[in-house]
Amino acid sequence: MNRMPFFYDITLRDGNQSLKKPWNTYEKEIIFKHLTELGVQGVEAGFAAASDMDYEACTHLASIAPDNIVISALARCVENDILKAYESIKPAPKKRIHTFIAMSPFNMEYVLNKTPEQVRKQAIEAVNFAKNLMGNNGEVQFSVEHFGDCRENIDFVIDTLQEIVKAGANVINLPNTVERTRPKTFIELVEKVYNALPKDVIISVHNHNDLGMATAVTVESYFAGAVQLECALNGLGERAGNTNMYEVAVALYNSGVEVPLNLSKIYELALTISDMSKVKIYEKAPLIGPDALAHRSGIHQDGAVKTKDMQKGAYRPIHPSLIGRKDDEKLGFTSQSGKTAIYEIITEAGYPITLQEAQRIAPFAKETAEKIGELSTKNIIDIYFNQVFNVQGAFTLCSMEKLQDNISLHFKYNDKEYDIKLSGNGPVDACIKAIQKAGFNCELLHYEQQALNEEIMGSGATAMSIMHFKTPNGDSVISRGLDESTIKANIKAIFNGLNIIENLYSKTKG
Ligand code: KIV
Ligand code: ZN
Repeated sequence: MNRMPFFYDITLRDGNQSLKKPWNTYEKEIIFKHLTELGVQGVEAGFAAASDMDYEACTHLASIAPDNIVISALARCVENDILKAYESIKPAPKKRIHTFIAMSPFNMEYVLNKTPEQVRKQAIEAVNFAKNLMGNNGEVQFSVEHFGDCRENIDFVIDTLQEIVKAGANVINLPNTVERTRPKTFIELVEKVYNALPKDVIISVHNHNDLGMATAVTVESYFAGAVQLECALNGLGERAGNTNMYEVAVALYNSGVEVPLNLSKIYELALTISDMSKVKIYEKAPLIGPDALAHRSGIHQDGAVKTKDMQKGAYRPIHPSLIGRKDDEKLGFTSQSGKTAIYEIITEAGYPITLQEAQRIAPFAKETAEKIGELSTKNIIDIYFNQVFNVQGAFTLCSMEKLQDNISLHFKYNDKEYDIKLSGNGPVDACIKAIQKAGFNCELLHYEQQALNEEIMGSGATAMSIMHFKTPNGDSVISRGLDESTIKANIKAIFNGLNIIENLYSKTKG
């Protein structure tokens, strides 16, 4: 399919009419400028007969409209409305009168109190009237209000639309004025109309989101023949809103359709519209929700981290930069989360950690999260410091003294106290020998020192010892010690290591 979608914005009309405080001309102009930057092909400026303010706004937007954007005003199928619409959009280089009437059996009978024949006549006359006003200087769009409810009288609707096209309508808009049924039902109706009208007539859809399926209905309508897609910024519109422009644009983009919009403008625009409409963006709103990039399940966090630098992510529909989002996927730690989140959050915060340590710490973080809900970065850093540098367990270092090559250690294993003095090949060796002499397993596999930036680790700590000890099952475990003195950092790393092994295996005693 190589026809491009034609994005018709209805934020300033349908969106505006749903606001608690509709926009004035000045506000509409701000949004209109954003719409031109976004690159929409058409804008419905307002309902000219609704109020003087809306009339003025239509005229103003028509007068500043660039010559590549169609400007329309809405009108019921009554002469006065059509005249007002026509007058209001006159200054626009590309203009369109948009007139509508309901054709569903229910609405014709109970709201309009008219027979189908009366409605047909009124619609044809209105289009005729609009076409005569426009001549060759603009277009006429006709909307079948409540088209989604026209299943039982679709033959009547199609018959009438054929007359309406003959009367001069260039665009036939098919609204799902109230979303009540399956998307497929609506799409089948769109297909029927598309097949019954001449191919130079533009088919348009305008879907409300009462059941939350407007995006899907609009996207599939495009593939069923509708080129013009009426959408609103942030999905604003009557009741649950209109079709959300961003979702449709991105869904089509993801389906390989050439989308004539500057998608990178979306995110900023969404924030502006929320601010100007006073309609908050729902936390979980697709694409633009503040929480729409968050991962909290361990499995999702793992996939997200493994693919974070790739264009396609394991758990996201697009790269956030596509819509101009500067924030990236974020990991929130809850009782559902896992080691990957700990690793990423601690690394991101600038502290050293290995995946093995993250795995060991994760249960402590989960336990806290079970009680208080999602942990803040500060919560996680506190847990990290406790579980990495101050590991509690059966071993307690009470004091330590180094006299030349001798080391004198006073420590407790549960309640039993040990006082051991030993010399060795340096303090680490001496300390380990002292512990072994007391009858505990303690086999050092690897040892390194890291100089530290005090600002990062805090409390004057400038030395970090990293040690790897052999575990009872032959694996190795990493432990760290932090202090301003290198020797103390070493001894702390040894005792942290003893407690880590004891806590994991309860088997340090030889
Ligand atoms: O929802 C609707 O049917 C409308 C028409 C006026 C197009 O907004
Ligand atoms: Zn509508």
